[in-house]
Amino acid sequence: MELKTLEEIDIQLAPTSKINEVDFDNLTFGTTFTDHMLVCDFADGEWKKPVIQPYAPMTIDPSAKVFHYGQAIFEGMKAYKDANDAVWLFRPDQNYERFNKSAVRMAMPEVPEEVFLGGLKRLLEIEKDWVKKGLGNSLYIRPFMIATGPGVIAAPAKFYRFMIILSPAKAYYSGEVKVLIAEHYSRAANGGIGAAKAAGNYAAQFYPTQLANEQGFQQVIWTDDATHTKLEEAGTMNVFIRINDTLYTAPTSERILDGVTRKSVIELAKRENIAVEERSVLVTELVEAAKNDSLKEIFGAGTAAVINPIAGFSYKGDYFELPKLADSIAVEIKTKLTNIQNKLAEDTFGWTVKI
Ligand code: COI
Repeated sequence: MELKTLEEIDIQLAPTSKINEVDFDNLTFGTTFTDHMLVCDFADGEWKKPVIQPYAPMTIDPSAKVFHYGQAIFEGMKAYKDANDAVWLFRPDQNYERFNKSAVRMAMPEVPEEVFLGGLKRLLEIEKDWVKKGLGNSLYIRPFMIATGPGVIAAPAKFYRFMIILSPAKAYYSGEVKVLIAEHYSRAANGGIGAAKAAGNYAAQFYPTQLANEQGFQQVIWTDDATHTKLEEAGTMNVFIRINDTLYTAPTSERILDGVTRKSVIELAKRENIAVEERSVLVTELVEAAKNDSLKEIFGAGTAAVINPIAGFSYKGDYFELPKLADSIAVEIKTKLTNIQNKLAEDTFGWTVKI
């Protein structure tokens, strides 16, 4: 695909760069931001001219709906640099489409393609030095929209702000990831906003995840809200389960995020003739498979987390350790995927888009 061009934009460059103060080998995910950000306001029923300006705090009315009713959505994307210093995006069309689906679900205005993708292109052209080469390096892209319109009446705002901020990234998780299978709390329900990348979906997971953290687990794998019998997704990633030689992942639904990494894993696995089925795995099936050694792997898939193996899971007080395999599908798929993203392997899918 070609990224749409954005001609109408104001660019206000920062007088100095903070890039030399950053230790790119020791980054904590999502804590360092580049010199500039993109800002575009929606007012009077239309999107105004976007601005690229120095990254800085901003002033928002205390009664803005984002603070009171959580009208806020976001996306997660990454940019990579190839051996010739060209910067690439991975399936940006998918993030753009999903962003506008989230916007519709949250009664927010859709963002035009030239603002979202064309604006991102302009921002990345300015910040290209922040994209470091080599496997494991990327520039994490966080497009988001908040309701800036004032007034505590519980109704959609009339004013919104779309923004893009950029953060150099290495791994999301620094150590082993052990998970707790949810027995009581839920991430999403049918008819709710689980399929939208709405800020509140993440906030709602913080408390149960905190309880899991206190017990030594980094993440929760959510189960369906109605019966708590079907495995769904984890807080920061979709989940794949390998039983014998088949990969299973929950089908996308009103409750499950249509992950870009998730769909790429499915397509890559199919190309490698790995059996993959989109169907719910029952918790009882997972426990049974762990007991009879047919459970080989569980891994998460997400933009920030990439492909992250799960070391073990706990359910109703019993802990099951996953085997450490020499022929791990998670490792194989991660290598194939990251090689494509970093332009180290041919992209036969046409997923990568040059800036
Ligand atoms: C991403 O993977 O980009 C996400 O948005 C998940 C977030 C919790 C870091």
